[in-house]
Amino acid sequence: MKDVLILGIESSCDETACSVVKNGRVILSDVIASQADFHEQYGGVVPELASRMHVDSIYPTIKKALSDAKVKLNDIDAIAVTYGPGLVGALLVGLSAAKGLSSASGIPLVGVHHLKGHIAANYLCFPELEPPFLCLLVSGGNTMIVKVSSYTDIEILGRTRDDAAGEAIDKIARVIGLGYPGGPKMDKAGQGGNSDAYSFPKTHMKDTLDFSFSGLKTYALNLINQSKQKGETLDITDFAASYQSAIADMLLKNTMLAMEQTGIGTICLAGGVSANSFLRKAFDDEAGKRGLTLYYPDLKLCTDNGAMIASAGFFEYINGTRHGLDLNAKPSLEL
Ligand code: KG4
Repeated sequence: MKDVLILGIESSCDETACSVVKNGRVILSDVIASQADFHEQYGGVVPELASRMHVDSIYPTIKKALSDAKVKLNDIDAIAVTYGPGLVGALLVGLSAAKGLSSASGIPLVGVHHLKGHIAANYLCFPELEPPFLCLLVSGGNTMIVKVSSYTDIEILGRTRDDAAGEAIDKIARVIGLGYPGGPKMDKAGQGGNSDAYSFPKTHMKDTLDFSFSGLKTYALNLINQSKQKGETLDITDFAASYQSAIADMLLKNTMLAMEQTGIGTICLAGGVSANSFLRKAFDDEAGKRGLTLYYPDLKLCTDNGAMIASAGFFEYINGTRHGLDLNAKPSLEL
């Protein structure tokens, strides 16, 4: 079979990213222009500024992805682009660039769901990985357990009813003064800490695989405020270790229930929070005990990148998906 080359474009939040991927599995180039350092001064992503920065970066990023891969636009079989969910202004930049290229060149356009991209990051790291498997999808705004029945069919088994795990970590990181982006800073802060030093309530709802992190987050906020009022200082290392371990336990417990209910023993982690060392360790330990097959992407591919969009786009493309120039950005696109 002839090799299929996909150009993947991602601009849903604060990374302008573009990549060329061969046959959905092999990264030929992976270029990321991150705005994270710029948004740090505001303590979070400022949507309007993110859109403007995407406008500046999008064409240089695409050009570099093609030249790093040593291919020309004409060699590309399809242009895959994130069209949701995400910040509408940010999504529109990548989508407009993809539509412009597709219209000018005649190369097919394939819209990709951002979260399907996160799942596909595992295909790039593990050539042997094939559906069916379960995936714990933990990105900045989403926490869900999904059943990946085929490369394009995904069923949600459980999801958060309030905050995403990533939001619960980012918010508390900000309150304890770790800054933005909170996830990696909280992870670092907790290294070597005693995860039993602080005891957090872990919500587990009956008869559902859904999550709720708002109670845990409120408990953490109260603990911080009470210790301030009493003039006590929290041990940040122990606090960060205990908080992240509690979140990891909640994520692990429901994923194990999903495994027992479906009988599927292959589990993937995906999304930015899958970079978290407490989460990885909790899953490593449990997978070892239960003899499960566990995958999580290389650190670089956990957070937003163009390669994961190209990989997910490849599987959509060979499944026959094509989009027209009427494809619009969908900030709240459902899986
Ligand atoms: O998947 P992602 O890059 O963007 C979305 O698609 O949402 O995820 C970003 C999230 C942020 O909440 C960030 O704090 C979190 O991933 N994150 C981490 C770590 N690295 C990134 N959270 C915990 N530990 C980490 N090491």
